[in-house]
Amino acid sequence: MSEPVIIVDHVSKFFSLHYASGIKELLFHLPTYIKEAKRKRFFALNDISFKIEKGESFGIIGPNGAGKSTILGLIAGVLKPNSGKVTTKGRIAPLLELGAGFHPELTGRENIILNAIILGMTKNEAQSKMDRIIDFSELKDFIDQPIRTYSSGMIARLGFSVAVHVEPEILLIDEILAVGDTKFQEKCINKMMSFKKMGVTIIFVTHSRDQIEKICERVIVIEKSRIQKIEKIGKKI
Ligand SMILES: Nc1ncnc2c1ncn2[C@@H]1O[C@H](COP(=O)(O)OP(=O)(O)OP(=O)(O)O)[C@@H](O)[C@H]1O
Ligand SMILES: [Mg+2]
Repeated sequence: MSEPVIIVDHVSKFFSLHYASGIKELLFHLPTYIKEAKRKRFFALNDISFKIEKGESFGIIGPNGAGKSTILGLIAGVLKPNSGKVTTKGRIAPLLELGAGFHPELTGRENIILNAIILGMTKNEAQSKMDRIIDFSELKDFIDQPIRTYSSGMIARLGFSVAVHVEPEILLIDEILAVGDTKFQEKCINKMMSFKKMGVTIIFVTHSRDQIEKICERVIVIEKSRIQKIEKIGKKI
């Protein structure tokens, strides 16, 4: 068995539920407010543990609000757990929210540079891969337009194209393919398959059981902030 590259160890993450009350109200009733905020914590994840081996393709599935994106945010390091520990090994390319790491007023081409730098490339590297990134996205005709004019599918194309060109060791994908058309989704799935062959670890959040079964060896079913089961594709473990 190879080494784990992601260890999620008894992780909990909560958010405080805020109720708009106005600043005056808040200042006059500060102790009550703090007590209430503690009481009204909402657990997005409750004592989650799992390990992912190097080169494994791992799916996460579950209803809206189950905690799937929160898991990816913790692995990407954009969220911190309130308890427990997340350990990762290797360069991560996260494709979390649609358009994250992009600036609406910059063109597609400028955003490629910006996003590539955020993902750890140098400007020169990004420039040398520019043509390949544009080709993969199939957005050549729009690449010098500001991306505020892009459709959501076009933004997803651009995000996916940059992420797969940073040579990631770990690829995190949060439902971003859902807004792509069927042809582009297929192209992305093929790209993920070729990454898989190269030993890239993939974590893939989707509502499509079909896509999970195509790519993943294991899948976490998450519901109400907890892992309900971990299945090997084809059989339960
Ligand atoms: N920044 C935040 N502040 C407050 N609550 C949050 C925040 N982020 C997530 N939550 C809450 O945590 C829970 C889990 O959210 P999460 O985004 O992980 O769900 P999800 O499984 O990705 O859902 P979906 O399928 O709709 O994308 C939800 O109830 C959500 O309201
Ligand atoms: Mg989500």
